[in-house]
Amino acid sequence: MTVLTVALGARSYDVRIEAGLLARAGDVVAALAKGRPVPIVADENVAPHLATLARSLADAGVASEALVLPAGEGTKSWAMLERTVDWLLAQGVERSDHVIALGGGVIGDLVGFACSVMKRGCRFIQVPTTLLSQVDSSVGGKTGINARAGKNLVGAFHQPALVLIDPDVLDTLPLRQVRAGYAEVVKYGLIDDLDFFAWCEANGAALLAGDPAAREYAIAHSVAAKARIVAEDEFETTGKRALLNLGHTFGHALEAEAGFSDRLLHGEAVAAGCGLAFDYSAQAGLCAGDDAARVRAHWRASGLPDGLAASGVAASPARLVEHMRHDKKASGGRIPFLLARGIGRTYLDRDVDLSEVERFLDSQPH
Ligand code: GLY
Repeated sequence: MTVLTVALGARSYDVRIEAGLLARAGDVVAALAKGRPVPIVADENVAPHLATLARSLADAGVASEALVLPAGEGTKSWAMLERTVDWLLAQGVERSDHVIALGGGVIGDLVGFACSVMKRGCRFIQVPTTLLSQVDSSVGGKTGINARAGKNLVGAFHQPALVLIDPDVLDTLPLRQVRAGYAEVVKYGLIDDLDFFAWCEANGAALLAGDPAAREYAIAHSVAAKARIVAEDEFETTGKRALLNLGHTFGHALEAEAGFSDRLLHGEAVAAGCGLAFDYSAQAGLCAGDDAARVRAHWRASGLPDGLAASGVAASPARLVEHMRHDKKASGGRIPFLLARGIGRTYLDRDVDLSEVERFLDSQPH
């Protein structure tokens, strides 16, 4: 078992990573619950995991009812927030009580946000069931829902009280979803850890094939990286936490063009976006062309899109840049952008000219 701490003073919490943890979660949860019930909010895709967790809680003497919501991005909505809050209030949740979010990023974001507003803030436990949520969204306290005007535009920073990660739940996750989560694993190497990127090159195939040791190592390493970055810049004010958005400006434009649908999963968009960010950096003379080629080769070897053409999004560069112009961070035709001086040497350029980005995209096969 690995136990990592996200060090945030009074808001510090542990992340426990252990194969088979779901079936043993009861004792850890009982220690926090102190005799109070612990309601679970899950999505309909995780029914077997819900049964395992509920049994473990019951065995440890923790009373627990469950709300099961529809799976999918549509659940990050005002309607589902209202349903979740109403249900939790009907359960008699008090401020010092704990609520479990069991599912992927959608459930974690929604339930975390519901808990941030319930009685001005109650406690919650993240039990992420996808690789992407295990290595990224369950840690760090970003919660929220989507608005008509865009994704994640309504939300709050609200740290969980505990994160429980059982890598075994990935056994039943579709390979495409595992690959998409793996893009976020590799991203930590690209940001500031060349050795970890090299580890991914050597071990990524085993991880994707379900090798338990590779999987657990990658999750623990990724969570440790995220914990370090969040502890340094919890509220994304210094630019450090913004590094986690590597590949996201290109990726977000691709996702927007694909209608935020299953045509292009978030992790796939991040992979393609990182490929483009490295190519842009190479073309601008910031990093070696060999580094950009190495990044793209690893995406291809991992079955992930490495750039514009492979993303399958047939949008013109002008349209993609138009999406970027509407980004809340853009102003006067310029945008903050994550660029690279090499693998593991990412930095935030606060002022990139979008017409340069469009010229670059024009030069890419699309
Ligand atoms: N997923 C990016 C962050 O947590 O800041």
